[in-house]
Amino acid sequence: MDFRSFIQKLDKSKELIKVSKPVSKRFEAAAILKALDGKPVLFENIKESQFKVAGNVFSSKHYIADYFGCDERDLIKIMVNALNKPKELNIIKKSPCQDIIVEEKDVDLDKLPILRHTKIDGGNYITSGVFIAKDKELGMNASFHRCMQLDKKTFSVRVCERNLYEFLQRASGELNVAVCIGNPASVLLAGATSPPIGQFEFEIASALESFGVVKAQFADVYVPSSSEFIIEGTLTMNELANEGMFLDLTGTRDFVRKQPILKVKRITHRKNAIWHALLPGGNEHGLLMGMPREPTIFSEVSKVAKCLNVNITQGGCSWLHAVVQVQKESDEQIKRVIEAAFKGHSSLKHVFVVDADIDANNMQEVEWAFATRLQGDKQIHIFPKQKGSSLDPSAEHPSRITCKVGFDLTIPMGRDKADFTKVNYERIELDKYLVKKDEAKQRRKRVSGRKTR
Ligand SMILES: Cc1cc2nc3c(=O)[nH]c(=O)nc-3n(C[C@H](O)[C@H](O)[C@H](O)COP(=O)(O)O)c2cc1C
Repeated sequence: MDFRSFIQKLDKSKELIKVSKPVSKRFEAAAILKALDGKPVLFENIKESQFKVAGNVFSSKHYIADYFGCDERDLIKIMVNALNKPKELNIIKKSPCQDIIVEEKDVDLDKLPILRHTKIDGGNYITSGVFIAKDKELGMNASFHRCMQLDKKTFSVRVCERNLYEFLQRASGELNVAVCIGNPASVLLAGATSPPIGQFEFEIASALESFGVVKAQFADVYVPSSSEFIIEGTLTMNELANEGMFLDLTGTRDFVRKQPILKVKRITHRKNAIWHALLPGGNEHGLLMGMPREPTIFSEVSKVAKCLNVNITQGGCSWLHAVVQVQKESDEQIKRVIEAAFKGHSSLKHVFVVDADIDANNMQEVEWAFATRLQGDKQIHIFPKQKGSSLDPSAEHPSRITCKVGFDLTIPMGRDKADFTKVNYERIELDKYLVKKDEAKQRRKRVSGRKTR
């Protein structure tokens, strides 16, 4: 499915909130998205731009499962399968993403609905852009990178030291890239995975759903033919500019750094293109970051225990906390489970391991297990001085050194499980005992009728 078809689907199912009043791309649109976080929104009238803007589109697992036509509980398995069995690209000729072409001389980024999110931000930001780059030997790579608008034709781009950074170094600091905006969900999820360098994420996306790709016009890379916008240009680390501040995933500010710049050479887009505004620190940002790490944790934990479920929790910034549900065979096994979880997601800071009877997606139940099954001197595993996440304000900066902790919230072996299990009350049919509202109304009517007679 393409991005706009899913928006139409949300509209049909009455899950889309349409804002027809004029809204400014400076602060106003972002503030509305924040107020409606978790609910898909379409801005039909952006004051400074001819384009419509959609946000909070994939802001809950419910929408992602709806997109793929599956149950929420099956999403991890679908992702594990796609990571393990990538599929070849489907190269096609049809390229709606190139219906309209804006040549370099006509590029004016001010015409695009690039949102200014908060007053601390260093500028207007593209937040949903998936970069496609190519290395002569390693092939292509897809990854998200936020872009801060510097002027009508340039951005500074946040490039963490991962694959794109390595591609840049291998290319003497300069690469032609395509930035895809308004993508199919498969491309968004795959773009946030970190397979070994040389594995093109679009092959993972292709295993999630079938979609066509076409050659970009300036960069020698493939882009999804259905993407709403493709911004092409030269990314260079030989010229750096300030990037930041930026309200990041944790809801706190990320500081200013010197980062590579992107010189825009060409923009192509669909007719009546819809911009995807991904709210920084919002549910959609969190889900796209965290969800692709659940299958990698699941796969690593499955090597040491029977893993039943993984939840990267929203409260843990969709990045730093995970609940891992296992069927354990020994108490010692849990330390291996914790280590495997950290291996499956290297930015993870705290992991909570629970038994099969605790719903990993229900934090109230997880906290209940924390309160009733944990003895701190025996079941907390501390790993000081680990490489953690650059997003954690409490980690050392810039080294990212942090202390990782695993909490074993499982029932100790040898203890009577009945002591740790909730006792059930008898089942009853509540309807039998409660008077329904209209029945009560009828009864009151009958009584007042009798009195007046
Ligand atoms: C919404 C979103 C925004 C992201 N923003 C950035 C970013 O600005 N810079 C960055 O280096 N990584 C960012 N990431 C993370 C990378 O895209 C992600 O970790 C990816 O797996 C790295 O790809 P690679 O393994 O090919 O290097 C973002 C991820 C998501 C989901």
